Amino acid sequence: MSTDTTTRPTTRLTAAIRLVLARYYAQARRMPFMTLGCILLPAAADILSYYAPPLVVARLLGRFARSESLTATDLLPYVLAFAGLWIVGQICWRVAVILITRVEIYGLEALYIEAMDELLAKDLAFFQNNYAGSLTKRALGYARRFEDVFDVLVFQIAPGVIPLAFVSVVLWSYSPWLIVVLLAMLGTTMALVLPLIRRRQVLVDVREAASNTLAGHLADSISNAEVVRAFAREPDEAHIHALNVKDYGAKTMRSWDYQNFRIDMITSPMFVATNILGLVAALAVRGSSSASLEAVFITFSYYSTATRVMWEFNRIYRGLEGAITDAAQFADLLLEPPVVSDAEEAQAFTPRDHSITLSDVRFRYGPSQPPLFDGLSLTIPHAAKFGLVGRSGGGKTTLTRLLLRFSDIEGGQILIGGVPIDAVPQSALRKTIAFVPQDPSMFHRSIADNIRVGRPEASDADVRRAADLAHAAEFIETLPDGYATMVGERGVKLSGGQRQRVAIARAILKDAPILILDEATSSLDSESEASIQDALLTLLKGRTALVIAHRLSTVRRMDELIIMDNGRIVERGSHDTLLAMNGIYAALWAHQSGGFLGSDVATQNSEPVTSPGT
Ligand SMILES: Nc1ncnc2c1ncn2[C@@H]1O[C@H](COP(=O)(O)OP(=O)(O)OP(=O)(O)O)[C@@H](O)[C@H]1O
Ligand SMILES: [Mg+2]
Repeated sequence: MSTDTTTRPTTRLTAAIRLVLARYYAQARRMPFMTLGCILLPAAADILSYYAPPLVVARLLGRFARSESLTATDLLPYVLAFAGLWIVGQICWRVAVILITRVEIYGLEALYIEAMDELLAKDLAFFQNNYAGSLTKRALGYARRFEDVFDVLVFQIAPGVIPLAFVSVVLWSYSPWLIVVLLAMLGTTMALVLPLIRRRQVLVDVREAASNTLAGHLADSISNAEVVRAFAREPDEAHIHALNVKDYGAKTMRSWDYQNFRIDMITSPMFVATNILGLVAALAVRGSSSASLEAVFITFSYYSTATRVMWEFNRIYRGLEGAITDAAQFADLLLEPPVVSDAEEAQAFTPRDHSITLSDVRFRYGPSQPPLFDGLSLTIPHAAKFGLVGRSGGGKTTLTRLLLRFSDIEGGQILIGGVPIDAVPQSALRKTIAFVPQDPSMFHRSIADNIRVGRPEASDADVRRAADLAHAAEFIETLPDGYATMVGERGVKLSGGQRQRVAIARAILKDAPILILDEATSSLDSESEASIQDALLTLLKGRTALVIAHRLSTVRRMDELIIMDNGRIVERGSHDTLLAMNGIYAALWAHQSGGFLGSDVATQNSEPVTSPGT
């Protein structure tokens, strides 16, 4: 994983938490009246059920204390008031629950969508640097935790805090000291606990990061199930998992212990002390009036109810911080904007033709890596077909990624039809290019759907025609479910060559003016390849094409061949010219007997040529 959360500075965590709170607040703001109802109604219900009825009882006790002889008619209003308060309180609860459910579900829906949108906006490097499993867990957690946070707010915080206003007014009427003592004790507890909570937040963040590592490894192991089996790695994977679990357990223990031993050590005695002080204060202010009995009873009753929030502070905070820290694991990913982004004022993409020009391109994968391309220049004229050949790791696939703008370059320019590709929206650029990657991956959907990725609105007939041209129809029609066959995750139920043919069909269906084929037929037998070649050559007519291949027979019919090594062009020309030059290409050609590059072909010492096309 790219981000090492254990050493991440707290400021970053704070920023992530702020972002979560801002995003959650935005959701609550979308439905202001409902949200307000969700906060006020449970608090009102609590007042009506727990704070108002004791007042009725206190009045009654007061009358008993004055030894009045009370008839049933005298008592009735008290009973009615008591019952009325409880009933209205319960109605408030029921309405509150209806509102809470709605706000939470609408919020969840919006956040699930938002999480996916945020991920889709990321560039390819982001996905190469993060575990798929961990990303999935984080994205889902980000949305789901809204429910937990909102629950804590409306079920615990609001009913714990808002009634304090009511409590204050009532206690004030007996003696201001009663409320002074209560608020002072609540305030002191907060002041003592808050610094500890900040420290605990770090422990919780470390714990959540460990939980993501655990989930990430699990998903990685599962998606590599075949390798795990083939290399009998089950015990090793189980061992790594056990280590992750142990690490997660230890970190969880540390955060819980901190809660139990440090924070509760403060809240517990404060809770007890506040209640004792409350009784003492009530007795002290008892003073003159007959209201003294009421005062003592109400103080006792209110203190024990109001200080519950102190005792529950632990649980409330733990719930809240667990939820927010978990959500912050996703928000953390959003702190850095995508590396590849559309220009502020991206212009409409109207290239004059579909020529491709790389001029003095410099690129490296990471700041610590040496440059892969250091001043690469190349022009592919409109409708020309170029072949790209070279040793493994020479930068061929990287070049295709740069053309598609999966990464931005460090220097120089890439132009299509005279338009710099970073001046136009990425989607517009990619619509003009049909790309068949080296290792095409499939959605776990039907074959038809996988081909339709090229053009979602294509008719069934178009899909079949594309499959036909790609010579995929032959095998698809023999499958029991034909075009409706599900291909398995990443297309595992298809053979390598079948996957390639589906990917070619996809590109054919896309019908784009530029075609990039990266080893698109490498997994096919020579016979199948030859038949697809013919189809492809027809397809390539009028289009600009860059075809990468190790098998030279694949590219020999291209207009021009580029031989690349270590990010440099070392030879170029048509098949015949290159053979006549008797250089690297000629040597490669001689080494191949319809197969692949000979491993002993040395190209390191060859001098790069200045490309005549630029
Ligand atoms: N995502 C990445 N992060 C860092 N380095 C990378 C990344 N992808 C490729 N590289 C490195 O860049 C270099 C060029 O890789 P590239 O895939 O472009 O080679 P290639 O010419 O397509 O090779 P092959 O013929 O094997 O497909 C390699 O050294 C590779 O290790
Ligand atoms: Mg490659």
